[in-house]
Amino acid sequence: MTVAELLPALGLRVTAGPVQLLGITDDLIPPLCQLAENGIHGEDERPFYAPWSSAPPGILSRNTAQYFWRTRADFLPESWALNLAVLHDGELVGVQGITTENYWITRTGETGSWLGRRFQGQGIGTAMRQVMCAFLFDHLGAQEVTSAAFVDNPASLAVSRKVGYREGRERRMTRGSGEMALNRELVLDPADFVRGEDALSVEGLDAFRASIGLPPGNSSTR
Ligand SMILES: CC(C)(COP(=O)(O)OP(=O)(O)OC[C@H]1O[C@@H](n2cnc3c(N)ncnc32)[C@H](O)[C@@H]1OP(=O)(O)O)[C@@H](O)C(=O)NCCC(=O)NCCS
Repeated sequence: MTVAELLPALGLRVTAGPVQLLGITDDLIPPLCQLAENGIHGEDERPFYAPWSSAPPGILSRNTAQYFWRTRADFLPESWALNLAVLHDGELVGVQGITTENYWITRTGETGSWLGRRFQGQGIGTAMRQVMCAFLFDHLGAQEVTSAAFVDNPASLAVSRKVGYREGRERRMTRGSGEMALNRELVLDPADFVRGEDALSVEGLDAFRASIGLPPGNSSTR
C-alpha cells in the first residue's frame, strides 16, 4: 500500500504548462521549509492570519513542517485543507492551498498561498491560483472560490483581481498580538473566472474525489 492510497491528497498531481501542483509528500517537506526559512516577506509585513512566517529561524521550519503534518492528520471529508507544493519549470517555488468544510454540500473553499521571495512578482502567483481555481471548478465541481487578504497586501489583492474575483466586505481582524488589521474578502464565480492559457491534466483525481465524498469523474453531482 502507498501513502497516496492511504491519503489521496498526497497522490494529486495537477499540471498546466510550466506549473505543477503536487501533494506534499515527506520528501517535499524539508525543501519547502528551507524555502520558507529563506524568506516569504519583509520583516515588517504580516500577510497571514497567524504570524507563522515571522517565527525565528529553525522554529519557522519546524512550525511549517508541523502544519503540513497536522493538515494531513486532520483531513476528513467534512473538513479538509489541501496544500499542494508548487513547481514552476520543475523548480520548487511555494505552496498553493485551499481550506473548506462540508465541501460536497457547500462547493466552496478559501484559497491561500505563498511563494519564496525570489519567485515573487513574475506572474507565478497568478498562474498557480488560476491552476487551483480551474482544478476546483472543472474537476471538483466548485460553485465559487473565495480568498481574503489584508488590505496592505497589494500583491495578493492584485492576483485576485486579475483572476476575476469580486470584492466582498472588509473585516476588522486581530493580527499578531493585538494589532487591528482590515481584511478584504473576495469571491470568484465560475462565470467571471479569468483562466490561464494552459489546459490542465490531473493525476489521482478519482481517489481524491472519493476522499472528499464525491463520485468518480468530473461530475459536479455527489
Ligand atoms: C501573494 C503572492 C502569492 C502573489 O504571487 P506573485 O507571483 O508575487 O504575484 P504575481 O506576480 O502573479 O502578481 C502580483 C501582482 O501584484 C502587483 N503588486 C505587487 N506589489 C504591488 C504593490 N506594492 N502595489 C500594487 N501592486 C502590486 C503586481 O504588479 C502584480 O500585478 P500585475 O501583474 O498586474 O502587474 C506572493 O506575492 C507571496 O507569496 N506573497 C507573500 C505571502 C502572501 O502574501 N500570501 C498571500 C496571503 S493572503
